[in-house]
Amino acid sequence: MRGPPIDEIHFDEAPAVDEFPGPKARELLDRQKEIDSNAVAYPDHIPLVPDEAKGATIRDVDGNVFLDFFAGIGVLNVGHANPYVMDAVHEQADKLVHTVDFPSEPRLDLIEKLEAIAPGGLAGNSKVVFGGPTGSDAIEAAIKLAKYNTGGSGLVAFRGSYHGATSGAMSITGKKDFKEPYAPLLPNVQFAPYPHPFEQGKTPERAVADSLREVRAIIEEPYGGMTNPAGIFVEPIQGEGGVVTPPEGFLSGLREIADDNDLPLVVDEIQAGLGRTGEWWASDHYDVTPDIVTTAKALGGVGFPLSATIYHEDLDTWGPGDHAGTYRGHVVAMRAGLRALEYVEEHDLLAHARRLGDDMRSRLRDVDAPAVGDVRGKGLFVGVEFVDGDGDPAPDAVKRVQEHCYENGVLVWKAGQHGNVLRLLPPLVLTDAQAEAGLDVLCDAIERVDVEHAASSASR
Ligand SMILES: Cc1ncc(COP(=O)(O)O)c(C=O)c1O
Repeated sequence: MRGPPIDEIHFDEAPAVDEFPGPKARELLDRQKEIDSNAVAYPDHIPLVPDEAKGATIRDVDGNVFLDFFAGIGVLNVGHANPYVMDAVHEQADKLVHTVDFPSEPRLDLIEKLEAIAPGGLAGNSKVVFGGPTGSDAIEAAIKLAKYNTGGSGLVAFRGSYHGATSGAMSITGKKDFKEPYAPLLPNVQFAPYPHPFEQGKTPERAVADSLREVRAIIEEPYGGMTNPAGIFVEPIQGEGGVVTPPEGFLSGLREIADDNDLPLVVDEIQAGLGRTGEWWASDHYDVTPDIVTTAKALGGVGFPLSATIYHEDLDTWGPGDHAGTYRGHVVAMRAGLRALEYVEEHDLLAHARRLGDDMRSRLRDVDAPAVGDVRGKGLFVGVEFVDGDGDPAPDAVKRVQEHCYENGVLVWKAGQHGNVLRLLPPLVLTDAQAEAGLDVLCDAIERVDVEHAASSASR
């Protein structure tokens, strides 16, 4: 077997927290506050100072050991410092690191692998472009490619979306306060509602029908508002938006609208792809073939920055240098990415993610807590939406659950446009025993928050 089994690649003792943050962590956090930029964000929420990490576990500078249900925001699908990946990383780093886009075996092997696992009908019929290291770079490439091939300019996107922090990616991102200071961004962008049955208080069928009607109206109706559309941009599961998992019929309906209007369907798999949901791509769950797929995050294997845009070969119309970037050839990242995909296959981690994710969701659904409005997701992409006694978003509940989890050694993150969704993105190498230990802490946190929630509702 290539690489050690998943139960051999973690620190044994997680979770084990003494004082959090401990003295060394506090010192480094203070130092960071003094010299780092104001834009630093995560330590404001989690006072974590990692020192070493293995698999689904992180040890901080004071020796506290955490279970990582966060995975560097969905990056570390095969775990921190996966030994099968790291062997190749060390070897490659000593040999060759950067090549722009000159050929190298790791580059060509990774392209072949991505083409082989590409979703639906893209498998065997696709091309891959590397344009820059981040997910946002892959999105910029997708926007350019859609415009270049259609000659159009209009971009259809969705409310609740997040596609990145560069200008083009922000243009198709729903989050208003994030992009407001930089307006105007790209012109001719329109947002349709993403089907979110829980939030919208609709049946899944209704939510899908309403969303598709809006998309069609934007593109097809004489007074729909959009001229010269260039493509439809969608997350197959909205990550930042709250692990919003669309009902059946949504992606296939978008496929139909794209076909009817000769437009590319661009599926952003940056957070949901590469095994996170228990399939290589979240769109595989819905049996839909995109025209363009963006991928990043887990693509660099163990956290190396690497992104790619995969597209149907019919769209391969760019000439040499038409899409450029210095960092198109990080050989170490490419080698690491290929190794990570091999490890997922070798250890059957797609099936593991599907089964373990279902088990985790069912345990979370069994928690007797009215504050939990909805539990959703696919594979190891898990969302728990919290509401107050009136059914309104309860971001404070998420904050309190998070704090209890950190203090007891489990790293969990949040999402949702109101910040009221707990988002779990553990590495796919999370073992059953680790999942159980993490959920013991998490379920306890939810029950405690629910008691406070009931008490405060009663006193109102
Ligand atoms: C769905 C999706 N698209 C794009 C991005 C942007 O990726 P990056 O932060 O690497 O630029 C993200 C980041 O969270 C994402 O979740």
